[in-house]
Amino acid sequence: MESNYQDRIPNNVSLGTNRTLQRALEHWQPEFLNWWHGLGPSDFNASEVYLRTATSVDTKGWATFGYVRMPEYRWGIFLADPEEDRRVGFGDSVGQLVWQQVPGEHRSTLRRLIVTQGDTEPASVEQQRLLGHTAPSLYDLRNLFQVNVEEGRHLWAMVYLLHAYFGRDGREEAEELLERHSGDADKPRILSTFNEPISDWLSFYMFTYFTDRDGKFQLKSLAESSFDPLSRTCHFMLTEEAHHMFVGDTGIGRVIKRTVEVMKELGTDDPEALRKAGVVDLPTIQKYLNFWFSSSLDLFGGDSSSNAASYFANGLKGRPDEIKYEDHVEANSSYSLDLPDGRGGVRQEQIPMRNAINEVVRESYVRDCEKGLARWNRHLEAAGYPQRMTLPSTRFRRTVGSWANAPTRPDGTPVTYEEFAARQDEWLPTAADRAFVHSLMHGVFERGKMAGWIAPPERGINAQSIDFEYVRFN
Ligand SMILES: [Fe+2]
Ligand SMILES: [Fe+2]
Repeated sequence: MESNYQDRIPNNVSLGTNRTLQRALEHWQPEFLNWWHGLGPSDFNASEVYLRTATSVDTKGWATFGYVRMPEYRWGIFLADPEEDRRVGFGDSVGQLVWQQVPGEHRSTLRRLIVTQGDTEPASVEQQRLLGHTAPSLYDLRNLFQVNVEEGRHLWAMVYLLHAYFGRDGREEAEELLERHSGDADKPRILSTFNEPISDWLSFYMFTYFTDRDGKFQLKSLAESSFDPLSRTCHFMLTEEAHHMFVGDTGIGRVIKRTVEVMKELGTDDPEALRKAGVVDLPTIQKYLNFWFSSSLDLFGGDSSSNAASYFANGLKGRPDEIKYEDHVEANSSYSLDLPDGRGGVRQEQIPMRNAINEVVRESYVRDCEKGLARWNRHLEAAGYPQRMTLPSTRFRRTVGSWANAPTRPDGTPVTYEEFAARQDEWLPTAADRAFVHSLMHGVFERGKMAGWIAPPERGINAQSIDFEYVRFN
């Protein structure tokens, strides 16, 4: 597909041949830039950042590296190449040709799905807007800004769909994507995780590991959609998303690695001693992990969901990697859910498989999350320590689904409200834990230098050295 990188809005969707659409998007563009200046990264907009920019979707063009001032980043519209003769992959219409336009009967549902996805993209930029000041290195500062500009591009991706396929109400939704703001009392972002402030880098790494990974699974589910433009948009977004999770994965790993180094040096795992030495003790890292994992699990929705069933039946939103499943219709199959029995125990219930799609997707997400744990624990293993980081049970601290308001221990054992209240400080970050983590946050802006609470990365970006000048301050 041809890309027009020279256009005011870079694109590979032949925007120049549709004047009405082009004008509408050119009208939205200054509003987007306004939003970026007001709610994007709080400073550094004059700095030159070593960023990758997508200039096309082929392997050569999708990651072009160079110094860019963020407001001059070329936010473009790029869809993966169409797949010839693509067919509906799941649900009641399996095998029919996919749709190039929105079917009238699915219009409002598809719009809602696109808006919900679109809302998370600028939300995370807003959540992270102050982090630049406390970056532990230039390498990390650059990674933060890479994530931020790409979330901006993901917003563009969803806004393009709204403008191109949903007429006037699509344009109105696009405006509202810039009007809702993370944490705003009157107009908050749609999903609650995206209203949690991210004011320290440990949270940022947790967010990019756990919450961007939810993004990956949502995008993979939407990439299965029978609405082909949505599918193609999400396919390309996934290539960018991989780096966001890499930032979280390696970030958490580097924090653990540094803590283990200091544990060895001092010959102790005493949290107080480690904190005095300026690193994050393992129990605190575990609490952050418990918090962000449980919060991200909620994003998949209820474990038994009639909405999920109808998205699946109608071919709107599927399961990631649908091809791996044997049955693409799931008309008569069932799924066994573990539910709280209301008396402190667990009972099982069979529900139709289609109603359990959220749970099926959540399970594959959990398996994906476990891979990072194995990597992080290698630092502990290699140093000969018996401690291990663990993922809490999917029942723990849920606010959505059957386990909402059913308190459990991190291992998933149901407990009374009293026990939960009495012990939650052992399981989740306390105000004092957060204050300690905050106390470590100081910007380190010298080439090659790292904050003391985090190990250097194993390698730089795009084959550059670790002490490369990833950000030039002007
Ligand atoms: Fe994104
Ligand atoms: Fe992301």
